[in-house]
Amino acid sequence: MSNNSIPNEQTSASLTEAKRILTGIKPTGIPHLGNYVGAIRPAIESIQNSDHEAFFFLADYHGIIGCYDPAIIHESTKVIAATWIACGLDPERVTFYRQSDVPEIPELAWILNCSCAKGLMNRAHAYKASVDINMEKADVDPDQGVTMGLFGYPVLMAADILMFNATHVPVGRDQIQHIEMARDIAGTFNHRYKTLFTLPSAVVDNDIPLLTGLDGRKMSKSYSNTIPLFGEPNSQVSSEKQMHKAIMKIVTNSQLPDEPKDPDDSALFEIYKAFATPEEIADMRAQYAAGIGWGDAKQALFDKINTEIAPFRARYEELMANPKELEEILQMGAEKARRHSRKQLDKTRRAIGIRPLAKIK
Ligand code: TRP
Repeated sequence: MSNNSIPNEQTSASLTEAKRILTGIKPTGIPHLGNYVGAIRPAIESIQNSDHEAFFFLADYHGIIGCYDPAIIHESTKVIAATWIACGLDPERVTFYRQSDVPEIPELAWILNCSCAKGLMNRAHAYKASVDINMEKADVDPDQGVTMGLFGYPVLMAADILMFNATHVPVGRDQIQHIEMARDIAGTFNHRYKTLFTLPSAVVDNDIPLLTGLDGRKMSKSYSNTIPLFGEPNSQVSSEKQMHKAIMKIVTNSQLPDEPKDPDDSALFEIYKAFATPEEIADMRAQYAAGIGWGDAKQALFDKINTEIAPFRARYEELMANPKELEEILQMGAEKARRHSRKQLDKTRRAIGIRPLAKIK
């Protein structure tokens, strides 16, 4: 790490009184229960119960890194925006926007690129992982398949964050390094030109459960073992039926009804815990010990999840059927975001020496 990674006391998040929370969501898939429990629900709850400023956005310029299917980018942007709104995100309360509607962000990214050491990017986990895979193969260039977009991913992410002087950035563990890089990039700029950027802190919630997927591995899009939150879009089957069907497919062992079962060895119970109260969890534990059949345990899990999700479905369906309303929400968010980003970019450009030569008229 360079000297620039030393936190700048004056701008460090811990000394900033009001929190400004910011997080990005990459629109490259259909939200599943793991996303709901791990990101959507905690983010919405944490905002509802606070008076902090919040910026949530769809990181579509990050989405196109490695996803070359325009239909997936487009559909996923719509589904994810509809999901967050349906699950209770209040676009009046939170500045909710699409990254690509704020052109100042990629402009800032370019400026930051010009101060960011290439060596810092060489150390990024995501880039190194691609290189490592190539190195294992004979006669393959270490950078094969690595685009400048992937290599510079953390700089665009730093621009997302520094543009709004975010203090707190809720992320998954895999993103912590990116937040540290954003601090580093901010520190370099502040030191070289002028203190303009707040140093952000990653916020990682260790209590958030990681869900197991249908096949017993971690629930993840890349394993195709997920339970979609609102079902696959454009399906003939209702999203409630789809969820029921998916839950019935979760793998269990071959124990028969009435045989006592170990709840701590069951994906069903683990998902149940993410939706139930402590009393309900204790009660279900007792039912496992008493030999509840797997079919009944699955039905109980479906009922529990459905009680929480069902109230969101109508709003979700409505937004999906009416993309005009969604677009209006996103445009309102972009307008709010740009009130900040125009000023921040203007200050940044002035700091680096790019400003009008004279006032005309
Ligand atoms: N890289 C993040 C992810 O894959 C998404 C993201 C983009 C983000 N820009 C951000 C998260 C800014 C937090 C802040 O999950």
